[in-house]
Amino acid sequence: MQLIDGKAVSEQIKKEIAEEVALMVAHGKRAPHLAAILVGHDGGSETYVANKVKACGVCGFKSTLIRFEDTVTEVELLEAIDGLNKDDSVDGFIVQLPLPKHIDEQKIIEAIDYRKDVDGFHPINVGRASIGLPAFLSATPAGIIELLRRYNVETRGKHVVVIGRSNIVGKPLANLLMRKDYPGDATVTVVHSRSTDIREQCLSADIIVCALGKPHFLTADMVREGAAVIDVGTTRVPSTLTKSGFKLTGDVDFDNVAPKCSFITPVPGGVGPMTIVSLMKNTLLAGSKAIYK
Ligand code: GUN
Repeated sequence: MQLIDGKAVSEQIKKEIAEEVALMVAHGKRAPHLAAILVGHDGGSETYVANKVKACGVCGFKSTLIRFEDTVTEVELLEAIDGLNKDDSVDGFIVQLPLPKHIDEQKIIEAIDYRKDVDGFHPINVGRASIGLPAFLSATPAGIIELLRRYNVETRGKHVVVIGRSNIVGKPLANLLMRKDYPGDATVTVVHSRSTDIREQCLSADIIVCALGKPHFLTADMVREGAAVIDVGTTRVPSTLTKSGFKLTGDVDFDNVAPKCSFITPVPGGVGPMTIVSLMKNTLLAGSKAIYK
């Protein structure tokens, strides 16, 4: 069994990005600039955004954090987005999700100029990516693809089972794995909460991607010998063992599944760090106007 070390790969990619940024700056260009809008004080969102800002520093990017209380109105948020869309000093920006219930998330996503949508959530980026046109790719699927590439996990002609059909992980990942490319060229099955044969599908899978957000959902009896397992779960469960009082828990029963696997990602330290690195890559692409002028 080989452990896929997302933390190490992400550190390496951040170094590669920092080298590119140093070159850009040496050629008289400015460093890429990412802005993030954070609404409220949700613990998970605070941590994610703090990690994104920190990663910007490591990559040599400029970053700006814009905070609103959770009483912010939809109109105020739309005004802030309009300002960022028009601000030529900002290459890309994100609005951290989830948003308070009184705000229509889809309306917010669609208000972002797709040329600055480094989360890859805007329907234009989703659509372009799904037909193989250059686009900002959603961070988690792009991170998983990069891990498969860097560990030479064979996907061509393999059966991949993706558990979960979310717009930001399951669906876009299934699309990327179907591309005529490597990593890709896979036969992809997407199973979800209404599927009646999840175990059977998983037992025929060469690669299983678990992205449903249920701690320890994938158990050893669902995995065949030699399968590769990618765990996207990051449920925060209370813990007395950590300073934060929480522990990140994956969707895979790691201790029992790992011995059967050819490759497996841990939680934490697997897909999570790659997600942030994908955002950094998109920001670099935005800063160098590599996808949209
Ligand atoms: N909330 C959880 N993951 C993400 C993400 O990748 N981007 C944004 N904007 N919000 C999130």
